[in-house]
Amino acid sequence: MACNYTTLSLPCVGKVVPAVEPPTLNTNLKYTSKSCTKTLSTVSRVEVPNIVGKFGNFGGKFVAEVLITPLAELEYEFNSVLLDDEFKMEVETALRDYVGRETPLYHAQKLTDNYKNINGRGPEIYIKREDLSHGGSYKMNNVVSQAILAKRMGRKSIITVTSTGHHGVAVAAVCAKLSLDCTVFVGTKDILRKPSNVQLMELLGAKVKPVDGGFQAAASESTREWIEKLQTGYYLAGTAVGPHPIPTMVREFNSVNGKETRKQAMEKWGGTPDILIACVGTGCNALGLFHEFISDKNVRMIGVEGGGVGGNTGELHSASLVRGEVGVYHGAMCYLLQDGDGQITKTQSVASGLEFPGVSPELSFLKDAGRIECYTVNDEEALDAYKRLCRLEGIVPALEASHALAYLEKLCPTLPNGAKVVVNCSGSGYNDATTVLKSFQMDEI
Ligand SMILES: Cc1ncc(COP(=O)(O)O)c(C=O)c1O
Repeated sequence: MACNYTTLSLPCVGKVVPAVEPPTLNTNLKYTSKSCTKTLSTVSRVEVPNIVGKFGNFGGKFVAEVLITPLAELEYEFNSVLLDDEFKMEVETALRDYVGRETPLYHAQKLTDNYKNINGRGPEIYIKREDLSHGGSYKMNNVVSQAILAKRMGRKSIITVTSTGHHGVAVAAVCAKLSLDCTVFVGTKDILRKPSNVQLMELLGAKVKPVDGGFQAAASESTREWIEKLQTGYYLAGTAVGPHPIPTMVREFNSVNGKETRKQAMEKWGGTPDILIACVGTGCNALGLFHEFISDKNVRMIGVEGGGVGGNTGELHSASLVRGEVGVYHGAMCYLLQDGDGQITKTQSVASGLEFPGVSPELSFLKDAGRIECYTVNDEEALDAYKRLCRLEGIVPALEASHALAYLEKLCPTLPNGAKVVVNCSGSGYNDATTVLKSFQMDEI
């Protein structure tokens, strides 16, 4: 494909914007683009981010000079394929025939019954079954779309990083399908947690590169590899963080979930959901569901972060939105967990996919705009929710998704009869069974 990206005007890079005020519910927050200023309620979904990749003060491109041109090229190609019917058709076919979309919007009758009050009244709970996607998680939507984009850009090798392995497995599978060379960086800490995912990636033909430490160490190594292979390699981002256009692109490719949910809700009860709930690590699966509904003011959107150990107020957690402060991380302005010197602090969650110190710039913006609600659920509550869904519905949720399910405990008693609640089951939790079993006494299970 011809590419004239070098003629694009580059976004304002490295300009440090002032941090926003401490989080308050502010529905009048202004969204500023080059040509206009609007209140959030009038911002259409396609206008955000603005031309320089900013969601309000969040986002942007805080990167080394060497990455400016590759990111501009990626932005150009991404914008081009959004208008390209051939690309859209190829992705649509892959999502239907390879990924298995659409995923069901399942009415969880026994979970619904579980939350009925003594008068038999309560909300109706629906589960969006992203765990049924090929590869066992929502990750495949973005991976398949980006891999097709990489191929169109003439790239032969894919470089990526994974923590839980869901993303790594999805990338390895799609690379096999599209005959792309695949290298996956994984931290040794995560390899120990989910060895079977590493074996799977290798079986699917990927080269797995272990890096001493956790996700952050592996992410740094993968970026180094990308810089060495800028001409031939494609960095396949699996999270909604990073410099522009990565957060927008990953969200866009995941937003098929919300579009389906709108259609399915219309078919099932002739309206929109009243409440959407998703767990938040970096924010991909949450935005995948939420984005479609941002302009529907009556739809409540709830993001649930990892409260870690202790009573959701302890020192060890992964709650970047609830307990973080604004700063620059992985090339973008966002909420992040940092100490007084601006050093990244240690994160903790029983769900490795939630253990990330930063969060999507778009979710950061939506939090400050008062458009999303953010809460935490601790490890113990999430483990209970995992067990509850297994027992009541025969569905095994990922520990990440179990955080979203656990929030039902607090939410349901506050809801009117018949309220329609959609919980995103972002992935399958078969690989989490060992962790869950270890945390409970055998006779309790
Ligand atoms: C199944 C699953 N759900 C949720 C997450 C959390 O990430 P995010 O908030 O970016 O969707 C992950 C991360 O790896 C995951 O594997």
